[in-house]
Amino acid sequence: MKDVTASTPVSATALYSKHVAERQTTAARALQETGYDRLLIHAGRPFEYFADDQEAPFHATPHFAHWAPVEGPDHLLEIVPGRRPRLFRVTPRDFWYEAPAPADEFVSSEIDIVDVLNPKEAWATAGAGSGRTAFLGGPIPEGELVAADDLNPAALVHRLDWERSYKSDYEVACLVSATARAAAGFRAAEAAFTAGASEMEIHHAYLAAVGSMEEALPYPTIIGLNERASTLHYHGKRGRNGAHANVMLIDAGATVRGYGCDITRTFASAGADPVFRFLLEGMEKAQQSLAREARPGRPYLALHLEAHRKIAALLIEAGILKGSTEDAVAQGLSQPFFPHGLGHFLGIQVHDVAGKQADREGTPAPPPQEQRYLRTTRMIEERQLFTIEPGLYFIPMLLEPFRTGRCQDQFDWALIDRLIPCGGIRIEDNIYVEKESNRNLTREAIPS
Ligand code: GLY
Ligand code: MN
Ligand code: MN
Repeated sequence: MKDVTASTPVSATALYSKHVAERQTTAARALQETGYDRLLIHAGRPFEYFADDQEAPFHATPHFAHWAPVEGPDHLLEIVPGRRPRLFRVTPRDFWYEAPAPADEFVSSEIDIVDVLNPKEAWATAGAGSGRTAFLGGPIPEGELVAADDLNPAALVHRLDWERSYKSDYEVACLVSATARAAAGFRAAEAAFTAGASEMEIHHAYLAAVGSMEEALPYPTIIGLNERASTLHYHGKRGRNGAHANVMLIDAGATVRGYGCDITRTFASAGADPVFRFLLEGMEKAQQSLAREARPGRPYLALHLEAHRKIAALLIEAGILKGSTEDAVAQGLSQPFFPHGLGHFLGIQVHDVAGKQADREGTPAPPPQEQRYLRTTRMIEERQLFTIEPGLYFIPMLLEPFRTGRCQDQFDWALIDRLIPCGGIRIEDNIYVEKESNRNLTREAIPS
C-alpha cells in the first residue's frame, strides 16, 4: 500500500479517484432511497467560547472529510448523482489569519472547485438546485435556508454512516500513513519513560516525534504513569513524577487527511511488581490472540466476551481471583478489571460511526446492558477497520463494591491493594479486515 502523503501523486490520485467513485455510487443509492436529488455537505464552523473571541480547534464535519480532505471551515460540497462533485471553497481575504491551503491536485482532479469569498457567497453560488436537496452539517446561520426535515435527515444519515464502516483503499492508506507517524511518537515516548521523564515531558516527546500540533491529533494523548494508568481517559499530564515511575500507559494517535489511528501501549520497568509484569505479559498474548481472531463472520460481541474469559483466566492464574474462569465471568468478576468495550470502529472519527446499527436503514443494535460500553455490536466483515483494545486495571472505585459483596472471598484483596499503585494495562491495535483474515496495521509499524 502506497503512502498517500508521500510524493507519489499518481498513486494518491488513483486511490482517491476510486474512493470518490465509490462515494458517488453509495451516495446516489442513499439519496435515491430517501427521496433526494442532491446533497449539500457543510465543512463546519469552529465553535466560539461564550462571551469570548477565542475558538475551539476546528474539526471538519465528518461527512465532509469523508469526501474532501480540504482545509478550513465554511466550504459547501455539492453531490448530485451522475455529476462530478462541486466544492464551493471559502477563501476569505483576511489580513488577521492565514488563508486555508489550496486543495491538493489529486482532490481537484476529482472535484470541481469554485473559490468564493465568504459563506453567503458559497450558498448563493450553490443555489437552490433542481429537485430536493438534503443538507448535512451542524447549526449555521446559512442553514436557515434549509427546511428542518431536510437537515441531517435520519434515514439518509444512517445509510451514509453505514457505508463509512467499509473503508476504501484510500482510507486504509491514510490510516497506514497516520500509524507510521504515531510509531515515531511511541518510540520517543518509550525512550522518555525509560529516561525518567514526567507525563508532560513524555507528551512533548511524543508530539515532537510525530511532528504534530496538539490540536491536529485525533484525540488528546492519554499518558498515565503508575496509578494514573487506571484512569481510562486520563489527561492530567503531571509535570514532576517521572523519576520513580515503574509503569506507563500511553494511548495516542496521529492524523493524516482526517483519518486518525488509535494506539495504546503499556510499559513496565524491571523494577515493577512481578505480578504486574506477569499480567502485562499475559495481556500481550491475549490481545494478539484476539486481534488474530478478528475475522469475517464473527460477531464483534463474541470477541468481546472472549476477552472477558481471557482476562478472567489471567486474573485466576495470577492469584487475584479464585475459582473457575466460567464462574468468574458468569458472576461478573472480570467487569471491574475490564470495564470498557473491546474496541470500536475507527476512521474519520476515533469512535467511528455505525458500530451499533443492525442495518443500513439504521435499526439500532445496542449491546447487552452488562456490556453497555461496547461500541460495536456488528458482525465482523471485510473492509471494516476497528480497534482491539483489551484492558486490565486496578480501579479503586470499581473494586470497592466487591470488597463487601457476596463474592468478596473470591478476590485476593491484599494482592489487589499491592497492585493498585501500578494502575493498569491497555494494549490497542488497529485492525483492517480482509476477505478471510485481517491486517494488523499497528503491528506492521510497532511490532511490540
Ligand atoms: N483513545 C480512545 C480509545 O481508545 O477509545
Ligand atoms: Mn480506542
Ligand atoms: Mn485509544
